[in-house]
Amino acid sequence: MPNLHIIDHPLIQSKLTRMRDATTDSETFRRLLDELTAFMVYEITRAYPLREVTVRTPLETMTGRVLGVPVVLVPILRAGTGMLGGVLDLIPTAKVGHVGIYRDPKTLQPVEYYCKLPPDLARAQIIIVDPMLATGGSAVAATRIIKREGGRDVQFLCLVASPEGVSAYSAEHPDVPIYCAALDRELNAKGYILPGLGDAGDRLFGT
Ligand code: PRP
Ligand code: URA
Repeated sequence: MPNLHIIDHPLIQSKLTRMRDATTDSETFRRLLDELTAFMVYEITRAYPLREVTVRTPLETMTGRVLGVPVVLVPILRAGTGMLGGVLDLIPTAKVGHVGIYRDPKTLQPVEYYCKLPPDLARAQIIIVDPMLATGGSAVAATRIIKREGGRDVQFLCLVASPEGVSAYSAEHPDVPIYCAALDRELNAKGYILPGLGDAGDRLFGT
């Protein structure tokens, strides 16, 4: 799985374990997802380019450096929105696109129902966020849409991935790195990740 990157920082793993716990309530689950996403974003932005700017300190003028690429963040509705705050806390200038996809519970096939993306995707560093990569259908479809609209430089950020999802995603989008906090064992017959954390959307929103 050459394009899979597992971020196993101790603070990320500790928060993920609390999120997996079935007794963790929605309020805590949301807060942990927020914090965990921020830590992950810190890691995946390490190689982003910088550009030089002139800044006047209280003492003199110097050349400083700031982020040199526009960032577009694309949460996959609905659970992906739970990761928005964590990214925007660190990259407040990011533009946000939305792709609405749900997984048909019987066929497990992705169903697209909404898409609104900012312009100039071709120049942007794009981060697609969704807590779960299960069969991979939703992430594959979202990435296909973003590429169709001109996106080129894409990262996919999730919390928990399955081997099946990573294989499916890498097969269609070998150019896109996948970042996760954990690669779990397998999918069950209903397409849920084992051991996983359950239905991310339901746990986030209390549905
Ligand atoms: C969940 C999750 C992913 C998708 C992963 O969303 O947030 O988008 O399932 O499954 P896949 O890899 O097999 O496609 P869900 O379809 O439950 O929709 P929701 O976010 O609206 O709850
Ligand atoms: N979607 C989820 O929210 N959880 C899973 O385990 C699989 C798909």
